[in-house]
Amino acid sequence: MAFEYILVERTPPYAVITLNRPKQLNALSHDLLQEVSGALDELGGDDQIRAIIVTGSGDRAFAAGADIAELQALETADDGSQHSRDAHRIIFKIEELPKPVIMAVNGYALGGGCELAMGGDIILASENARFGQPEVNLGIIPGFGGTQRLPRLVGRTKALELVFTGEQVTADEAQRIGLVNRVVPQTDLMPAAIAMAEKIAEKAPLAIALAKRAIYEGLETSPRGGNELEMRRFGEAVGTADRKEGTRAFLEKRRPRWQGK
Ligand code: COA
Repeated sequence: MAFEYILVERTPPYAVITLNRPKQLNALSHDLLQEVSGALDELGGDDQIRAIIVTGSGDRAFAAGADIAELQALETADDGSQHSRDAHRIIFKIEELPKPVIMAVNGYALGGGCELAMGGDIILASENARFGQPEVNLGIIPGFGGTQRLPRLVGRTKALELVFTGEQVTADEAQRIGLVNRVVPQTDLMPAAIAMAEKIAEKAPLAIALAKRAIYEGLETSPRGGNELEMRRFGEAVGTADRKEGTRAFLEKRRPRWQGK
């Protein structure tokens, strides 16, 4: 697939997707999001790729939100729901991908940009990153999952404040409230994301996929139901050849050789 609005760099064991509309601060147009979806399909099916990093081009923005020109052109409530649904589909795809997705947030992550970041498994932020849900300034509400993922990450009180005021928070504040995993100087952001990707790529791939699934599935259900799901996914992990190899390698005091089986 050829891409116009993103860059895809494949460097096994990881790949980098770069949102690439720097003049619009990487605003998430419909076409850009469709390209992200296509890239996720390709990389998701690529056995050599064990982790995916998503970042923004330039040094000012990860993504400054949904494309406001496109929002302006929406006519009806149905148009709005469809616009939201299309974006949700891509963020669900990230959650359902059996590989970790690391968001390397290198500047503004506002509106849909913040929501795309929250759709990732891990968020690393540069010191100049800014997070926020400014949709109320435009007469709308978050529509790429923000009303659901933000309160689950930072709690209801802070989520309501951020969504009601539209205020931005700094990278340090975002870390303090549990929105991001780690803050690093801007020049260290991609090295930190790559180091994280490489560290995860050393682990058993099916175990990573099952752990990711258990966590997201569990968040959708009751604690008891989530624990039932964990038992099932744990059993699946025990059924893999990699579990035999991982436990044997430990006992033999050597590094495991994963087969992804
Ligand atoms: N959609 C479309 N274009 C956008 C955009 C968006 N979400 N965010 C920024 N841009 C464009 C601007 O229109 C401008 O284009 P121009 O150079 O052709 O005029 C360019 O990106 C640079 O933005 P600008 O506003 O001039 O930069 P700034 O440094 O003064 O401000 C922001 C940066 C991020 C604070 C500001 O651009 C902003 O508030 N963007 C919208 C954020 C938002 O509401 N997102 C939620 C959408 S749901």
